[in-house]
Amino acid sequence: MILESQRHLFNIPDDVAYFNTSYLSPQLHSVRAAGEAALQQVATPWTVTPGDFFTRSEQVRGLFGGLIGAPPDGIAIVPAVSYANAIAANNLEVAPGQTILVLDEQFPSNVYPWWDKACRSNADLIVVPRPADHDWTSTILEHIDERLAIAALPNCHWTDGGLVDLVAVGKMVREAGAALVVDASQSLGALPLDVGDVQPDFLCTVGYKWMLGPYSYSYLYVGPGHRGGEPIEQGWITRKGSEDFTRLVDYETELEAGATRFDVGERSNFILTPMAEAALTQIGDWGMENIAATIARSTAEIERRMISLGLEPIPAGRRGPHMTGVYFPNGVPVDLGDRLRAAGVYASIRGDSLRLAPHLFTTEADLDRLSEVVAAG
Ligand SMILES: Cc1ncc(COP(=O)(O)O)c(C=O)c1O
Repeated sequence: MILESQRHLFNIPDDVAYFNTSYLSPQLHSVRAAGEAALQQVATPWTVTPGDFFTRSEQVRGLFGGLIGAPPDGIAIVPAVSYANAIAANNLEVAPGQTILVLDEQFPSNVYPWWDKACRSNADLIVVPRPADHDWTSTILEHIDERLAIAALPNCHWTDGGLVDLVAVGKMVREAGAALVVDASQSLGALPLDVGDVQPDFLCTVGYKWMLGPYSYSYLYVGPGHRGGEPIEQGWITRKGSEDFTRLVDYETELEAGATRFDVGERSNFILTPMAEAALTQIGDWGMENIAATIARSTAEIERRMISLGLEPIPAGRRGPHMTGVYFPNGVPVDLGDRLRAAGVYASIRGDSLRLAPHLFTTEADLDRLSEVVAAG
């Protein structure tokens, strides 16, 4: 289903043409209202009950899990992708001589942990080169062999939306006896994904881009085989019986069952949790299929306009429906970023690509403004 413009639900002035959801989501009014109400609550700590340390986090786990076909106890609440990948790296085995696969120019939070893991394990970090035809999936499949221990991949490349078919890759990774770790930060929320189809060992996303939530509130899905694993910190709330605040000094060695054990300390964050809940509720109400289909109209129109200006957006079949990277035959003009900003057009330049990430708030007027600035260069 194609959704009507949802711009009225976001805090975006008319003179801002925002094509930067890949950077930071604009704020939904509902997310802001939830944050303001939460600030009021923490101003009166006598109204915060021990139950509040648990119930809302459980709600969030359920809502996030519902989006990706996972049970609530498969979800951990973490502050960042770097934290999520530290958990993944800590819980996966790599033998000397094995390989870990990442993509060329992959986001650093999904490279450094693997670089470190490879060094510590006497293993090799293999960087899949950027394919000239943007066909990441085939190129990744060519790099999977019996040496593979971990494929640490995105769903969409953060620089230009280049798409990885995670179902096909996941199947071949499993056949090779290796693990799949996914950073879905540049797709989840605007591109449907079902963990039953992909079967990742670990899958994470930030909450502040396509998930439309607050910064420092991210999600980690943990595959069934890893839910009894080792967390990277020794917290109290992740232990059995932590609901009883009177008995916390009866120190407990046993961790909560399920992915909850991987939660970051203070995961009950009384301000961010209701904001995340509001964002997840809105995404669930729209439906990720509908979000994808609707944003795809904007990216298709961007593609049409950019081609007519002689530029080279990555072909629709090779990218996510929700974002695109535009390449310039002679490189991105040096003054383009300044000219866009001066015209109230917000987008990012990542490597050689002008990255355009619209959303349900994108209007025809936004597209006109973008085209005018790009054409003037
Ligand atoms: C693909 C991807 N992963 C992760 C992040 C953020 O990582 P972290 O949560 O470690 O700051 C970004 C930010 O741009 C990103 O594009």
